[in-house]
Amino acid sequence: MLSVANLNVGYGLSQVIHDVSFKVNPEEILVIMGRNGMGKTTLLKSLIGILPAREGCIRLGDREVTAMAPHERVREGIAFVPQGRLIFPSLTVEENILTGAKGRLDKSVWDEIYALFPVLSEMRKRKGGNLSGGQQQQLAIARALVTNPKVLVLDEPTEGIQPSIIKDIARALKEIRRARKIAVIVSEQVVSFMMDLCDRALVIERGRFVHEAPREHLDADKVKSLLSV
Ligand SMILES: Nc1ncnc2c1ncn2[C@@H]1O[C@H](COP(=O)(O)OP(=O)(O)OP(=O)(O)O)[C@@H](O)[C@H]1O
Ligand SMILES: [Mg+2]
Repeated sequence: MLSVANLNVGYGLSQVIHDVSFKVNPEEILVIMGRNGMGKTTLLKSLIGILPAREGCIRLGDREVTAMAPHERVREGIAFVPQGRLIFPSLTVEENILTGAKGRLDKSVWDEIYALFPVLSEMRKRKGGNLSGGQQQQLAIARALVTNPKVLVLDEPTEGIQPSIIKDIARALKEIRRARKIAVIVSEQVVSFMMDLCDRALVIERGRFVHEAPREHLDADKVKSLLSV
């Protein structure tokens, strides 16, 4: 679905992502684990086009998107839920969701979103800035979903969120994959969330992948040890 080959990304003189290659398959949930500062956000921002690739190639299906602007990549089918959520605090829940849409949304889409995230239905007229962190995270996912992605990319969706809401988010992402038949890429540091969610996991360290395992061979202790080095 999405494939990345020999990607290099950096800031000024510092190179952060070193010659990274990976794929995510249709309907696969790929979790990229890494400690603070290891390059998760840098990698994901380059997938959506907020940061340019210095070298390498990013493809969505058979379309190369490496040189496309972020809004063009969204149109191609890559949606991004940024770290820290970045919802619009002064817009209502409904208005926030509509910023992801091209125009009006069909009732069936609202029904789908509110079935995934019942709390957003209760708060549809409330300002985004007055939601809790977990509710804002759900709102950010809903906003990304209405762009009709083929690949949904989320940067540390559990950061600063309480365990019960983390479980809700994992459940919603699995339901989104099942209902929409899309691929999901998630960066994370929470091992239990990874174990709950992923089909395959990668561990990134200083801009390179140092470990990869499919769900059936995933060893939580091994990943924990890599994250605690
Ligand atoms: N705008 C920037 N300019 C220069 N260096 C940056 C910039 N943003 C990040 N970096 C550096 O790039 C490296 C990777 O940062 P990145 O934000 O991708 O890590 P991360 O894995 O997302 O970390 P976290 O878990 O804390 O979000 C770090 O060394 C960081 O200091
Ligand atoms: Mg980050």
